Amino acid sequence: MQTGIALEDLTKSFHTPQGTVRAVRGIDVTIEPGETVALLGPNGAGKSTTIDMLLGLSAPDSGSVSVLDRSPRDAVDAGLVGAMLQTGELVRDLSVRELVEMMASLYPDPLDVDQVLDLVGIAEIAERRTQKLSGGQTQRVRLAVALVSDPDLLVLDEPTVAMDVEARIAFWTAMRAFASGGKTVLFTTHYLDEADDYADRAVLMARGRVVADGPTTEIKARVGNRRIRATLPDADLDALRDLPGAVQAERRGEAVVLTCSDSDAAIRALLAGYPSARDIEIAGAGLEEAFIELTTGTDGDA
Ligand SMILES: Nc1ncnc2c1ncn2[C@@H]1O[C@H](COP(=O)(O)OP(=O)(O)O)[C@@H](O)[C@H]1O
Ligand SMILES: [Mg+2]
Repeated sequence: MQTGIALEDLTKSFHTPQGTVRAVRGIDVTIEPGETVALLGPNGAGKSTTIDMLLGLSAPDSGSVSVLDRSPRDAVDAGLVGAMLQTGELVRDLSVRELVEMMASLYPDPLDVDQVLDLVGIAEIAERRTQKLSGGQTQRVRLAVALVSDPDLLVLDEPTVAMDVEARIAFWTAMRAFASGGKTVLFTTHYLDEADDYADRAVLMARGRVVADGPTTEIKARVGNRRIRATLPDADLDALRDLPGAVQAERRGEAVVLTCSDSDAAIRALLAGYPSARDIEIAGAGLEEAFIELTTGTDGDA
């Protein structure tokens, strides 16, 4: 059976005047053909460093990378991999169509250019110069460039960063249309909801290590918790725990702390059922905080 991606005990450090940065510290990740996997993690987690090694753009210090049963370079050279990196600009002074046509001409068996423009939703801006596009349009053109070779593997590094919600939806709709034909997709994102909506599985990285790897529903439950704190002296903890959206209730003196899977539902139910609740705070367990929590105590700098 063909394998998708196999990263084994991969490490990479950068030596800077300020010292050594251990960007990737021994990660093992296997991705099956046809899977869509989100690589999540706060800034500096090592996601882009991992992706650079996966694409053969940099060499690991140790460990091995295999992409579709080949070395990264061989897989890329064979046109099996389409990538959108965090950095990189579109060639200027070409129309969108000219750019996609030029990229298509580099590969032996590209997709039909009009079909790609349609799929990505940029047919109506095909004659526009590449420097005249909005941020969201630029990212969709970059997606078209990444997939015109009809790659088996699509690698996207923060493709929707700084896009508004509408542009993000348009982007993922395009990605999905392409990936639905059994393609393997690996993307990085800051947005937990994107991982939840578009990936089968999430791999969480923090400080160069994989701290969780599993179905997105599981990861979300682990990192998506928010806490509501309220002054509520006489409430029954069991009843609070049973509120919609609450998973845990604890007492801290006069206050109670609810851990929530859905803090919106829980706060509504709390206010409806306990009008005397006051001093209410919702502690944001954003993704960044959740990652810190997930790694605390399990990782030294050694
Ligand atoms: N070329 C480089 N030289 C020095 N340090 C680097 C270089 N590339 C990345 N790093 C450092 O490696 C760590 C991981 O970076 P990166 O892989 O870009 O993280 P992410 O993509 O998850 O934000 C960071 O501390 C970053 O500053
Ligand atoms: Mg990055």
